[in-house]
Amino acid sequence: MGSFENTRTFARQLDQQDPLKEFRQQFIIPVVGGKEQIYFLGNSLGLQPKTAEAAIKEIMLQWSGYGVEGFFKGDKPWMDYHDQLTQPLSKIIGALPQEISVMNQLTVNLHLMMVSFYQPRGKRNKIICEAKAFPSDQYMFETHVKHYGFDPQEIIIEVSPRKGEHTIRVEDILQTIEEHKEELALVFWGGINYYTGQLFDIKTITHAAQKAGAKVGFDLAHAAGNVPLQLHQWNVDFACWCSYKYLNAGPGAVGGVYIHERFHQDAGIPRFAGWWGYDKATRFKMEKGFKPIQGAEGWQLSTPSFLMYALHKASLDIFEAAGWDALQRKQQQLNAYLWFLLGEVNKAGKETIIEFITPQNKEERGSQLSMLMLQRGREIFDALSKAGVMVDWREPNVIRLAPVPLYNTYEEVWQFADMLHGLVK
Ligand SMILES: Cc1ncc(COP(=O)(O)O)c(C=O)c1O
Repeated sequence: MGSFENTRTFARQLDQQDPLKEFRQQFIIPVVGGKEQIYFLGNSLGLQPKTAEAAIKEIMLQWSGYGVEGFFKGDKPWMDYHDQLTQPLSKIIGALPQEISVMNQLTVNLHLMMVSFYQPRGKRNKIICEAKAFPSDQYMFETHVKHYGFDPQEIIIEVSPRKGEHTIRVEDILQTIEEHKEELALVFWGGINYYTGQLFDIKTITHAAQKAGAKVGFDLAHAAGNVPLQLHQWNVDFACWCSYKYLNAGPGAVGGVYIHERFHQDAGIPRFAGWWGYDKATRFKMEKGFKPIQGAEGWQLSTPSFLMYALHKASLDIFEAAGWDALQRKQQQLNAYLWFLLGEVNKAGKETIIEFITPQNKEERGSQLSMLMLQRGREIFDALSKAGVMVDWREPNVIRLAPVPLYNTYEEVWQFADMLHGLVK
């Protein structure tokens, strides 16, 4: 990685040496007032691949050309489209292709996975999760637990950061699991917390939860397409993610689910079923009695939206062309450069006005960096927005940003840090 310099020339040099520099050209960068924005919101909604429109058009042509026969005819019949998504995703998620199902959206999938993996039995009915998980996850726990007739206050055990700290210590997660091991049904965690950007040790949490006799799952909304994952190897039971953030599949894009293969043949596992999850060879016999596809696909319910599939594939094709390992290398370097530059920013003012709440340890973070603004937060955020930097504001006082390797540059990172430097002085 070498040592960094805080100059535009140095940032430009890094861009010139970047083996992935051409990939920015494959995305549409928002332009406001004739000026390309510095878009650091890949953690919220990834940018549009230039190929997305043509991908949609392909589906429309297939539809206009063949009608319903588009499922089976033409250059790209829809029937096996799913496989074209699971292959590239398997590298990003670290799973076997058959352990992945691309379906629905994230919150819907979380509920479906709860049906299969939250199985309260007697006193073993507790759920351990992170405090301040994304609201949808909290509502999912609350309503699911109520659905069983339980009191969420009794069932849901949240692990919080220690007093005066912003992130959760792994030892505290392990300790809580240990304390409740006799009554634990499920451990469910975010891969990366949406607010702090903290990346959790999925392998260690998985091991501890399973040792305690619980099932274990993860919400990977902020991790999929961002950080390396090895869900199969880590023996994770299940996980869900959305595809509109780092995976650039468009607003409200189709989500994804991972289910470890050991559950695929388990006839006893409860699930909510639909015809699209039915054994493919006999699906069209339309018979009574649900017979699932032997794989994560067996959790599908409905005929998928091929328009959504097409958008997802357009982005995954770019991941494939760039190479997941190369993307990881750039992600780390881009992020390291950001941290290096921001390390100098607080020194500029008389008092510290930014507290970085994302862990600086690279094992505990992905692309996102969250800055707790101790003073003048809104004013600085507004000034950045006015200057063409797209970052976001989370109440009460956090600015989040996430430069990503596919379309952001080192020069943008430098420009951002330089502007911030000027604003905190
Ligand atoms: C961590 C996390 N979980 C769940 C959700 C909800 O996702 P969806 O609206 O796609 O169901 C989000 C959305 O940003 C999220 O960041």
